[in-house]
Amino acid sequence: MQTNQLKGNNGPRYRQEQASEIPYELIKVKKLTPVIGAEISQVDLSKPLSKLQEKEIHRALSENQVIFFRDQKISKEDHIAFGRLFGDLHIHPSAPHVDGIPEMMKIYADKDSPRANGEVWHSDVSCDLLPPMGSILQIIQCPPYGGDTLFASMYAAYEALSDRMKMYLRGLTAIHDGEPVYRGMYKNFGVQDKETYPRAEHPVIRTHPITGKNALYINKGFTTQILGIPIDESDGLLTYLFEHMENPLFQCRFRWEENSIAFWDNRCVQHRAMWDYWPHTRVGNRITVAGDKPFFNAIDPS
Ligand code: SIN
Repeated sequence: MQTNQLKGNNGPRYRQEQASEIPYELIKVKKLTPVIGAEISQVDLSKPLSKLQEKEIHRALSENQVIFFRDQKISKEDHIAFGRLFGDLHIHPSAPHVDGIPEMMKIYADKDSPRANGEVWHSDVSCDLLPPMGSILQIIQCPPYGGDTLFASMYAAYEALSDRMKMYLRGLTAIHDGEPVYRGMYKNFGVQDKETYPRAEHPVIRTHPITGKNALYINKGFTTQILGIPIDESDGLLTYLFEHMENPLFQCRFRWEENSIAFWDNRCVQHRAMWDYWPHTRVGNRITVAGDKPFFNAIDPS
């Protein structure tokens, strides 16, 4: 398996590596695009999963970065139990949660909302020292149309950079700041501001701990500055990288139905929710799986 990156007039900017030929035994995996996203069927998340189903879902997530399930009539307990198969659960530093369940974040917008969640490209809570590994969102009430979520592969965004840009970014770190994002953000839900919000320094290129692949790890939502270079250079570079990562070539777009679930890997994916459905209502619950400290494997020259 090889990712070819061509230059000049020599073909596409980014060529996706070939999908794995090894068939799945229990689940069905239908890709949305060659680059990112797959819909998973033949699995009922309201029932305990077998070890093999669990393993195949892990594999599908690794291979596709974001996976989708349809028509899953799960309870809140099932949702939590599914999340726990992938690790400890993360508690959001600011967002409102379902009554009595701090690990379950509310996703809600209606005609009176001043804002909706996730309208800027981001990787969830990347301002944490240990940002979440993944997020599992179920939408339980959909608007009649609209309210899609877009997902972008940061492996593809990294791969499509020139070798010179990759070299330049190697070893650089950036600040991810929760303060400008979260302060005052959930006032309409009655959430009081905290004294401080998380802030962290992470590598600009992140090596995925499972796949070993490199991903671009800066996002418009949280990243405020690349360190070790002049501020004007950081501003210019972030502007370029934010624009670069929004190339539709790296994206898929998910159209929700009631009881759909999306499970994305925050280590290599950014997402953006469309609030194009006003004055309608969209409601969901999100479980977020805890993650580890982002690192860059400087030994691998790719
Ligand atoms: C989010 O988790 O950022 C919200 C995503 C969505 O509502 O589609």
